[in-house]
Amino acid sequence: MGVINDNISRRKFLSSAFMSLGLGFGIGMLGLRFLQFLSPKVKADRFEEILVGSAGDVSASDVMPMEIGNSKVFLLKTDTGLIAFSRKCTDLGCLVSWDKAKEQFICPCHQGVYDRNGKNIAGPPPRPLDRFQVVQKGENIYVKVKTA
Ligand code: FES
Repeated sequence: MGVINDNISRRKFLSSAFMSLGLGFGIGMLGLRFLQFLSPKVKADRFEEILVGSAGDVSASDVMPMEIGNSKVFLLKTDTGLIAFSRKCTDLGCLVSWDKAKEQFICPCHQGVYDRNGKNIAGPPPRPLDRFQVVQKGENIYVKVKTA
């Protein structure tokens, strides 16, 4: 009789121990999933350098309109080097154009005006034109645009 009771007790103990381990593991995995839910992964912006021309193509007086991916851009040379501006007005997003005589970017929608450095100087635009990073490698000029 004593041997049978010992076996049953041992069997019950092992059964309880495995059930407790399984339950603990399950609760642990659930807690891990909950923590992953609370801190979702944030995708970092991805940028790509797009070849837009060579340094010799851009003269000091030119303002070159171009389309890079889905972005409409002006590339120009200033005292501080090459700059690429978004053509999107910072008011409501109309496309600005370059007025060579006035040396200004003009927005046709509400007469927003930006100077050659993209600074908003008149009208409703609340801030300067957005900039794209320009990278020069040797003679090649690249503009960094967001791809995702
Ligand atoms: S959208 Fe350009 S000034 Fe309003």
